[in-house]
Amino acid sequence: MRKNIVAGNWKMNNDLTQTQALITALKQQTTSSNAEVMVAPTFTNLLEANKALKDSNIEVIAQNMHFAENGAYTGEISASMLKSIGINTVILGHSERREYFNETDEALAKKTDAALAKGMRVIFCFGEELADRKSGNEETIVGDQIKNALFHLEGAAFQNIVLAYEPVWAIGTGETASPEQAQDMHAFVRKTLADKYGNDVADGVSILYGGSVKPANAEEIFSKPDVDGGLIGGAALNADDFFAIVNAF
Ligand code: PGA
Repeated sequence: MRKNIVAGNWKMNNDLTQTQALITALKQQTTSSNAEVMVAPTFTNLLEANKALKDSNIEVIAQNMHFAENGAYTGEISASMLKSIGINTVILGHSERREYFNETDEALAKKTDAALAKGMRVIFCFGEELADRKSGNEETIVGDQIKNALFHLEGAAFQNIVLAYEPVWAIGTGETASPEQAQDMHAFVRKTLADKYGNDVADGVSILYGGSVKPANAEEIFSKPDVDGGLIGGAALNADDFFAIVNAF
């Protein structure tokens, strides 16, 4: 059965001191939520964050990684480097990586393979731009992003993949997809998976929604049958807001 997940993507925010302060605030939160909770600090703070959250129910995850095992890739970080400091989950294909760092479906296929080969779990992000939605192409764009990066995999690989639908027009803009828009796209994604891999695989995959999720809208979005959680940006930088979202489950 698929899990509910709330993951905070801290992006390029919080130096070491700020990271420690946010973790202290997170540890003071209480929850009876049934969701798995994750936070993704920047690379330089992963080790410290993982130590600080070791005995908590919050998993520390990475925002990105390179597909190579090691070598001449200045500034990059590999799956084994993440694993060596106890990081077992990585976000791949965030729209900011695609837009500002030219990440292609092909590169994301390789990154996914590299992470899975190391036994890591992948949170794979995808989503259309505003122009795609205005022209009614959102399902084609999303379907292609998923097929191009993931459909070379065996069905069993999806036990270690979480999908995250993040319409680019809703990220950091304050504009949220309506719960119905999220549900429609999540149902489309699940059907796309079912057509290729069958219902067992499709029904087992958690599909998160991301894009301006806040305490005020989380409960309604998460109430939709194909929405299994959220990938949270801005609101994850505040412990009270983040846990208000976690507690929406
Ligand atoms: P946002 O970001 O919640 O600030 O819109 C979501 C994301 O980029 O994952």
